[in-house]
Amino acid sequence: MKTLIAYFSMKGQTIAPGMKIVDLEKGHTAVVAETIRSAIGGDLFEMETIKTYNPDHMKMIYEAQDELKQGIRPELKDYPESLDQYDTVFLCYPNWWNTLPMPVLGFIEHYDWNGKRIIPANTSEGSGAGQSVQKIREVCRGAEVEAPYELIGSQVDSRIEEIRTWAKGKSEA
Ligand SMILES: Cc1cc2nc3c(=O)[nH]c(=O)nc-3n(C[C@H](O)[C@H](O)[C@H](O)COP(=O)(O)O)c2cc1C
Repeated sequence: MKTLIAYFSMKGQTIAPGMKIVDLEKGHTAVVAETIRSAIGGDLFEMETIKTYNPDHMKMIYEAQDELKQGIRPELKDYPESLDQYDTVFLCYPNWWNTLPMPVLGFIEHYDWNGKRIIPANTSEGSGAGQSVQKIREVCRGAEVEAPYELIGSQVDSRIEEIRTWAKGKSEA
């Protein structure tokens, strides 16, 4: 059986500590997912929305809040046809408004998770995984959902070795 590393992450503007807006070529969660993949192998899948979020970060934050309030699930460009070949799924996502980004909610609702092992890996700027794991447990019935790995997004680049060690530990457990 194989491992899937599924992730959602935003390129472009983000808020760094001190409320500074910075431009990222690659999102923090993408770095986490790629680091897990390079440490333990497996298939990497990026959840990409068809829609484009507002490139102005302050507007984008409220766009995401509207999606949450209205229960919108933005469609993804594509979905793995099935998860049958995977027994373990690393689910990597940022904290958005203290929970899962709605595109990630749409992704998990797309599949039957019975019997799968889900390992959440979250980045945030301080809230950790928030309510997201509770939501994953609610949606992914029959899955074993582990405690989340919580990272501060802006610290990810300096914690690559630690992420690799964590991922190896998980793949051997
Ligand atoms: C719409 C939105 C909402 C966010 N809400 C929170 C939050 O509630 N708590 C928190 O600590 N960080 C929050 N953040 C910060 C992100 O979780 C953090 O920057 C993360 O590392 C971004 O990952 P990415 O670069 O992979 O997209 C939010 C960011 C966005 C864009």
